[in-house]
Amino acid sequence: MINLFQPNLGNDEIALIKDVFASNWLGKGNSVKDFENKFAESLSSNTKKFLSTTSCTEAIFLSAKLFNFSKGDEIIVPTISFPSVGSAIIESGAKIVFCDVDKHSLNVRAKDIQKSISSKTKAVYITHYGGIPCEMDEISELCNQNNILMIEDSACAVRSFYKGQACGTIGDMGMWSFDAMKTLSTADGGMMYIKDTDKRIEAEESLYLGLPVKSKSGLDSSSENAANWWEFEMNRTGRRAIMNNVTAAMGLSQLNKLSAFIDKRKNIFEQYTKELKNIGDIRLPPTPEFEHTSSYYFFWIQTEHRDQLAKFLLDKGVYTTFRYWPLDKIKLFSEYAIEDYPNSDYAASHTLNIPLHQSLSDEDVDLVTNGIKEFYVQL
Ligand SMILES: Cc1ncc(COP(=O)(O)O)c(C=O)c1O
Repeated sequence: MINLFQPNLGNDEIALIKDVFASNWLGKGNSVKDFENKFAESLSSNTKKFLSTTSCTEAIFLSAKLFNFSKGDEIIVPTISFPSVGSAIIESGAKIVFCDVDKHSLNVRAKDIQKSISSKTKAVYITHYGGIPCEMDEISELCNQNNILMIEDSACAVRSFYKGQACGTIGDMGMWSFDAMKTLSTADGGMMYIKDTDKRIEAEESLYLGLPVKSKSGLDSSSENAANWWEFEMNRTGRRAIMNNVTAAMGLSQLNKLSAFIDKRKNIFEQYTKELKNIGDIRLPPTPEFEHTSSYYFFWIQTEHRDQLAKFLLDKGVYTTFRYWPLDKIKLFSEYAIEDYPNSDYAASHTLNIPLHQSLSDEDVDLVTNGIKEFYVQL
């Protein structure tokens, strides 16, 4: 079966993990700090504003806490969003206000957000679908004018840039995923950017038991000057959602290869574009514009025959799917679906994500494109 996504890890990652084993310190330590710094540097951003965690979902939940979402607040969410966004808002007590997206790029636009703004709007979550940046100038301006926080779900947009600025570092907070299906994988893991330095400290404390960040080495030393070194103080309540040296070692190794991974994905994206142009009723995804850089995370096509095509390809050993099933269609969130979302409905019934990952061979790509061409011949 040709997978939709596949990680690419090997001896380089194992070598760095061996060093961690030999150090006898598996927990959060130097490798984690190194990974946070190098990740920030790879985006030409300020290292002091970055913080690692266990998943992008954790960072999304943390954003609701950091910005004190609560009853009476309205949070705008594009229907095509990851479910963690909806869950985090519901748990905070705030209200979800869904908005539509562009029917072909599946990205939210300023005009979609604008329609949903009220005096209670506190924040908007945006998702750079498949790694193609949203129209950030317009969205940033709208958020500034209306004093709305902007949170960028950049789970799939590792090294996507909008006019030279990394996606995830444009709004008030951004987050990336390193889960098992991502271009850069640490099996599970996440990173976040937090614009406000005090909030960044609050985040670090919240993710590590509420212990004061200034303490040098965690539990035992948070009261370093106390006669009894086992005494400690807490600045707030806290979870324990920290990256460890083992997964950070994987991350460091993957970071070295990230440019090559993205180049390979770009190459496949271009091959698909060339091969599938003018086939049947296929509509191709927008290509990133010259001033934007994509992470090339998804390749998707849109067709009236989406469901039949998906089954036809599955029989040929090619797995395809649709990301992301609109949140307004999920029962848990349906009470917030108070309008029609025609573009998102169109996307949900016409879009098919086809395999795109750095381990695809030329033969795999041929199998996918030939399978699609055969489908249209027999149709
Ligand atoms: C757009 C988007 N947001 C958030 C997430 C959650 O990431 P994680 O699996 O690291 O929690 C994903 C994961 O696929 C995603 O695609």
